[in-house]
Amino acid sequence: MKLWAGRTDGVTSRLADDFNSSLPFDSRMYVQDITGSQAHAAMLGSCGILTQEEADTLIEGLQGILEDLNSGKLAFNMDCEDIHMFVEQELTQRLGDVGKKLHTARSRNDQVALDLRLYLRNQTDEITSLIRGLLEVLTEKAQTYKAAILPGYTHMQRAQPVTFGHHLMAYAMMLLRDLDRLSDCRKRINISPIGSCALAGTTYHTDRVMEANLLGFDDVCRNSMDGVSDRDFCIEFLSCLAVLMMHLSRFSEEVILWCSWEFRFVELSDAYTTGSSIMPQKKNPDMAELVRGKTGRVYGDLMGLLTTMKGLPLAYNKDMQEDKEGVFDACDTVQMCLKVFTEMLRGMQAKEENMLLAAQKGFINATDLADYLVRKGLPFRSAYKISGAIVADCMAKDLVLETYPLEDYRARSTLIESDVYQAVDLKTCVEKRISLGGTGIASVENQIAFVKSKLN
Ligand code: ARG
Repeated sequence: MKLWAGRTDGVTSRLADDFNSSLPFDSRMYVQDITGSQAHAAMLGSCGILTQEEADTLIEGLQGILEDLNSGKLAFNMDCEDIHMFVEQELTQRLGDVGKKLHTARSRNDQVALDLRLYLRNQTDEITSLIRGLLEVLTEKAQTYKAAILPGYTHMQRAQPVTFGHHLMAYAMMLLRDLDRLSDCRKRINISPIGSCALAGTTYHTDRVMEANLLGFDDVCRNSMDGVSDRDFCIEFLSCLAVLMMHLSRFSEEVILWCSWEFRFVELSDAYTTGSSIMPQKKNPDMAELVRGKTGRVYGDLMGLLTTMKGLPLAYNKDMQEDKEGVFDACDTVQMCLKVFTEMLRGMQAKEENMLLAAQKGFINATDLADYLVRKGLPFRSAYKISGAIVADCMAKDLVLETYPLEDYRARSTLIESDVYQAVDLKTCVEKRISLGGTGIASVENQIAFVKSKLN
């Protein structure tokens, strides 16, 4: 028979029970559920709704359940409908009638919203610290490779020379924004719904602010119907994770390309690659591919919840029990991806010779030749035209700008002198890009310092 037997006899079919039960997945919120209940009992005692002695008994009883679950002495009874029912039932078994008083002035509707907010607050902090760990490895790599030259691409065509440190720091900037988004999202997670009760508040003289303070919330939900039916905080959290995964996925895609024979820009450690069961020569970047693949799952978790919520009338509807599995899946997926990606990156080594070799092909210093002519007094558009003609001539003669003879240069423009070779030297091209946020070594160092200052 169910705890809620009353209007009905509380006898349900096994099939309905299995369909209805959320314990298989909401049991992971047991710490939050119990901590929340302890704060609730404390509030009930302090407001005189229960005697202080009753409140203390409940708090202690709950503590016992928490410890027994932690140690494995107590197992979840899967006949219970959800984590809230399980804890209350266990408490009543242990304490007798006083256990039945815990659920005064609350409902599972505000309780589940509370548990989920506490859980996601914690997850936000965990994910934040994993992103910070990734940023540490990333800035270290950028420092190591701040002078390594490779082609920068637009349209997947070699465009201009950049440093590998600069390229890596682009991802650091994305991750900084991810941190910012999560910390902003945390503000809206950290609002207490408890005391909204079923939907309309309560006739008891409760102290919602006290209960919220005990649990470390910044504020309380100001409308009880919103308090029990709001899942914006889950959706926002999932969208932060979706954007984060999009970043990891783009990074993964580049790592995968860089590992190919076509590029050979990096080598991953053996520990974070796999072989093929048939092709003995293979060293596959599976970790990066899986991170890219799992991005789809996290997007799915976000789309799933948005879709679940879109037609729901106020206030609580059982549909909302569907919030948890997607959110938990996203939490687990993102944490795992961040851990693996960080370690994969730590072991990644750049093949600087190959990068430089690639940079020497594709005329990625053509813009610098045009800029050279501008410095000699030509308007940029005319300089651009002359550089383009020189590139075409180089291609016809199988030369590069670095080996194009001075007479040929001067045949295109008498402004060109022997210092042109200095101007088209890849090292110069990179070092000259001193604009704020540019690819020059000093700029990369500034970027690293900027990220580090944000992390402190
Ligand atoms: N297991 C439920 C959920 O996850 C808890 C809230 C149930 N409330 C209710 N009135 N049935 O959403």
